[in-house]
Amino acid sequence: APVRYEAETSPAVCSGTIDSNWAGFTGSGFCNGANSTSGHAQFQVTAAAAGTATLGIRFANGTTTARPADVVVNGATAQTASFEGTGAWSTWVTKTLSVQVVAGTNTIRLNPTTPGGLANVDHLDFEAGGTTPPPPG
Ligand code: GCU
Ligand code: CA
Repeated sequence: APVRYEAETSPAVCSGTIDSNWAGFTGSGFCNGANSTSGHAQFQVTAAAAGTATLGIRFANGTTTARPADVVVNGATAQTASFEGTGAWSTWVTKTLSVQVVAGTNTIRLNPTTPGGLANVDHLDFEAGGTTPPPPG
């Protein structure tokens, strides 16, 4: 089963404010990143094994414009995810992505790529233990 990491709970970092004004979040709030490319959210997760991990990023975007972000794993950009409008700031949607992780501690950071900044970020559901991809060749 996945492990839930709340965006408002240290060692997670929210470059912005922890808010609770839009209903439907889990835990005690959510990360409202500053509306700029520097307004990031970062999670620290533990993987039992190296390999493919599934990320479930719960977010809300009450605008009609996507709030794309680089998904940065241990300092390297793994992919860019779009974080589309969800219809309302109180409508939360989980985006599922796969990334490669190392055994032990990993940092997973969402770095917004546009001046609008991040969508509001509620939590990260993390599940490791997938198979390690075979080496090339
Ligand atoms: C509104 C909303 C915030 C959101 C912000 C944004 O201010 O209340 O929760 O983060 O818009 O556009 O990022
Ligand atoms: Ca914001």
